[in-house]
Amino acid sequence: MSHKNVLVVGANRGFGLSLVKAYARLSWNVTGSIRPKDRDHETIYDPKMTGANILEIDFLDEETIRKAAEQYGDKPLDILINVGGSPPQSANPWQSQSGPFMLERFHVMAVVGVPLGPLLVMKHFLPKLEMARKPKIMNISSNFGSISGGHALSLLFRQTILTFLFVPIENSFGTCMAYRTAEAALNQISMTLSREWKEEDRKSIVFCVEPGFLPTQLTTFDDDDDMETYIKDLMKIVDKVTSADSGALLDWTVTRIPF
Ligand SMILES: NC(=O)c1ccc[n+]([C@@H]2O[C@H](COP(=O)([O-])OP(=O)(O)OC[C@H]3O[C@@H](n4cnc5c(N)ncnc54)[C@H](OP(=O)(O)O)[C@@H]3O)[C@@H](O)[C@H]2O)c1
Repeated sequence: MSHKNVLVVGANRGFGLSLVKAYARLSWNVTGSIRPKDRDHETIYDPKMTGANILEIDFLDEETIRKAAEQYGDKPLDILINVGGSPPQSANPWQSQSGPFMLERFHVMAVVGVPLGPLLVMKHFLPKLEMARKPKIMNISSNFGSISGGHALSLLFRQTILTFLFVPIENSFGTCMAYRTAEAALNQISMTLSREWKEEDRKSIVFCVEPGFLPTQLTTFDDDDDMETYIKDLMKIVDKVTSADSGALLDWTVTRIPF
């Protein structure tokens, strides 16, 4: 029986649910979060069935994050995985990216979703992470957040040639303005935190990953790669990373993707 603790934020479907199931199979003490709006929704039963402890976190509401950290209690948190995010909406031309839309994406994807949400979760859960022996934070980001791009070749190994040709893998295609900007912000937040935490002599390691292309609601179930394989790879990355990787954007081979 493992005594290690993992928290997956965004646990009711997609990558998050698969990670909850995988860590539960390894007998970790798993905590998963759902949004308060999903409290009575049927998707809550999937993470609950694994025996995971359920907390309520909405990236758009810091109070839910503060409360969740309080409810988690005074115990070490070995791994925090920020998964929650919203879809890219690539069909929308750049002219239609309104201020409110960009801000909403920023909140869900960065401050409160990918750039802000994860930041607030890291802030409120840091004291629990620092209680663990080797605490690690994996922020699920995307190659789309790389401004320079240029990492498309390694993705060939995971994609058919056709998918490679038609899916905008890196930033030579443009598209997905709000999504790319929010993911780039998450990458920046993670790097900046890693530097500040080093100065503060903290143990916590924070890094971002490009998780691959999976059939989830976010991709309208379009991609057909194998979730099991990707989840195993994500868990291997968490095992492998060291303080030398803190702040980096990594792929599933723990190779750095250029910012
Ligand atoms: N699937 C891919 O191929 C792919 C590729 C690259 C990167 N990613 C990244 O992987 C992450 C997960 O994607 P997925 O494919 O698993 O998507 P998904 O199946 O659509 O799941 C998204 C999760 O995020 C949660 N979420 C949305 N808004 C939230 C908020 N305001 N606060 C807290 N949680 C929120 C959702 O909860 P609700 O059910 O309440 O909406 C859901 O649990 C995203 O960050 C995405 O950018 C995915």
